[in-house]
Formats: sequence, structure tokens, C-alpha cells
Amino acid sequence: MNSKQQIGVLGIGAIGTVIAYQLLQNNLNELFYFSRTTRTHLKLISEGHRHELPVDIKTTISKPIHLDWLIICLKEHQYQNAKDWFPKLIQPHTRIAVIRNGLQLKRPLLAFTDDDHILECMIDAPTQLSHEGFYQNLNTPILTVPQSDLASAFEFCFKHSKLTINQVEDFKTESWKKLCESATLGALLCLHNNTCHIFKSEKLQHDYRELMNESIQVAKADGALIDNRFTNQMLNKLMNYPYTKGSSMLTDMRNCKPIELGAKNGIISQLGKAYQIDTPINDMIVRALS
Ligand SMILES: NC(=O)c1ccc[n+]([C@@H]2O[C@H](COP(=O)([O-])OP(=O)(O)OC[C@H]3O[C@@H](n4cnc5c(N)ncnc54)[C@H](OP(=O)(O)O)[C@@H]3O)[C@@H](O)[C@H]2O)c1
Repeated sequence: MNSKQQIGVLGIGAIGTVIAYQLLQNNLNELFYFSRTTRTHLKLISEGHRHELPVDIKTTISKPIHLDWLIICLKEHQYQNAKDWFPKLIQPHTRIAVIRNGLQLKRPLLAFTDDDHILECMIDAPTQLSHEGFYQNLNTPILTVPQSDLASAFEFCFKHSKLTINQVEDFKTESWKKLCESATLGALLCLHNNTCHIFKSEKLQHDYRELMNESIQVAKADGALIDNRFTNQMLNKLMNYPYTKGSSMLTDMRNCKPIELGAKNGIISQLGKAYQIDTPINDMIVRALS
């Protein structure tokens, strides 16, 4: 009998590589890797050290695989093309952790499993592709998840790793705060194709405030508890960023990759319509950046 937990990671990009590396610190985990593009090694720079670990990444499988956990590290716009993986990797007992930006993380998976088998995860782990195919991870990863037994079981997978799991009572509010912040910053940087340098201008500070306030109206209608000081707090944080700071949306746009518009300004516009809240700035951004 195999006493190890069988864990699949789907999407071996920046976050998939970070998560796989952390899971490998627990020798009770047996890992299986699935992605669009195969590679011979996981290549990660973490805490100044280069790690190059042999890996067997499957780009296709013919029959279902038994997994105790499936950890999905895809971007929102990658789900549509990845949906053939789900019936092969998800069985009735399989627990799923979805790590991505945005809201409603369970939605694409509800056709394949029960709601209470899915753990939504928000990750703080800035990671970018650097030289020679290495992903560079800039801080120790923190996963924020809804407080639950499922979260505690997930935490066990990361025993002996440095990754922190932060269980919170109000995951919706935490997700919305991160979304408002990243959708506002990312969209304005993309519209101006520039870094935080642009916020020296009072006009751009005003635009930031307007876009943030519009997004917060939708967040509140959706049940997030965001107080009136939030915009000022975010603006103060913004003014302390180095001028050279960019965002993942800006990086993707400059690398000619699809930006996570649907997961950010797109969902704010969409939920605005559902709650009958006008979102003219987010609508304009979706049109301009689509
Ligand atoms: N990177 C960060 O710093 C960071 C920080 C916080 C949150 N996040 C969030 O984490 C999520 C994942 O981001 P990421 O940066 O890891 O993205 P990423 O580097 O693009 O990784 C996604 C991986 O999924 C693979 N993939 C795409 N379509 C697939 C398919 N149909 N079947 C199987 N595999 C497929 C990609 O394959 P290819 O190798 O062929 O492209 C890639 O390896 C996003 O929601 C992102 O916003 C990222």
C-alpha cells in the first residue's frame, strides 16, 4: 500500500514550479506533473539558491490517474483549453486546490466535483521567468485560503516547507481587496505602457482613485467588507513604490502574452452589470486592452 499522498500539479509555469518545489520538501508527497509544454527540469531560484530538479511533465494522458490532491496553477484564460484534463485528473475523492488571481475560482470545476472538495487559494509569491529558463521567486510564498478542514488538510501537504498558509474567515473580502488593488494598478500601467513612474502625475493619482472607488462599489455589492479608508491606504502604498515597479499585467503585455483581463477588470465589469452598478472605467479598460 502506498502511504504517500499522490499530488498532481496542473500548469508547471511560474507558480506551478514554486508550489512543486515546496511540496517536494515533504517526503510523504508523491508528485505528478501535467502541463502544456514539457521540460526536463524544474528550474527555480529561491532565497538566492538555484535549484534544478529532474521532472517528468506529462503533456497528455490517456486514462484517469488516481490523485489525492490536484493543485491547479493555471491563469483564468487558460482554463478553457485545459478542460480536457479535469475528468482525467479529478475523481470523487480527489481534493482540489485552485491557485489563481481573480474571483469565483471554483466555478470552472463544479462540473467535475463537489463544492466542498475545492479549496480557493490566493497566492503572494512574485515569480518571474529570468535567464536560462529559471523562475525567480522573490519571497517566501504565502497562500491565503478560507478557514476550513480542507485548508488544514492542504496545510499538511506543505509540512517541512517554508510556504505559509494563512487561513482567513472572510476570504471574499481578502480576494476583493487584492483584486481591486491589482486590477487598478495593472490596468493603468498597461494603458500607459509604463511603470509606477506615471503616478508622479496628479492626474494619474486621480485616475487611480476613480478606478479604485468604482471597483470597490462592485466589491461591496458582492458582499466584501471594505472600509472607506482603503483607497487612501492603497494610494499611500502606491506612492512608496519604486518608479520602476511594474505589474504582472504590464509584464504579460510587454511579452506579447495574453493579460489576465477577464480575471481582473473583466469580472469587475461583469459583476457590476449583475448588481446594476455602472462601471464605465472598467468597461473602457476591457475594451481598450482586449
Ligand atoms: N507569477 C506570479 O508572480 C504570480 C503571483 C501571484 C499570483 N499569480 C497567479 O497564479 C496563476 C498562475 O500564474 P503563473 O504566473 O504561474 O502563469 P504561467 O507562468 O503562465 O503558468 C501557467 C502554466 O500553465 C500551463 N498551461 C497553459 N495552458 C495549459 C493547458 N491547456 N494545459 C496544461 N497546461 C497549461 C502553461 O504552459 P506553457 O508553459 O506552455 O505556457 C504554464 O506552464 C495566475 O492566476 C496568476 O495571476 C502569479
